[in-house]
Amino acid sequence: MLTRRSKISVEHIVNITINGKLSIARAGESVASAVLASQHFPTRHNPVSGKPRAPYCLMGSCFECLMNIDGSPNKQACLVTVAEGMAVRLQSNRPSVEELDEN
Ligand code: FES
Repeated sequence: MLTRRSKISVEHIVNITINGKLSIARAGESVASAVLASQHFPTRHNPVSGKPRAPYCLMGSCFECLMNIDGSPNKQACLVTVAEGMAVRLQSNRPSVEELDEN
């Protein structure tokens, strides 16, 4: 069951950027949770159809939450915990060979 987020106390705030915009997240939550709470949808586009996608299962099964996290493409945002200064970006297409070689 989904519940409303309570106010976040200052000591539990983590600053991240989502598509270049500063956003706050709750320490210990997943990137997918932070992205959903910040209403940054979609998180990626299907590389074949181009249709927008967003996190669905939030437990690592559906792969709908693939995002570029700190420069690494194809990261399952629901399985990555937010960290101070983390840079999260929409994954709009298939990663280039150069992007994959970097990681
Ligand atoms: S939301 Fe399903 S794998 Fe991440």
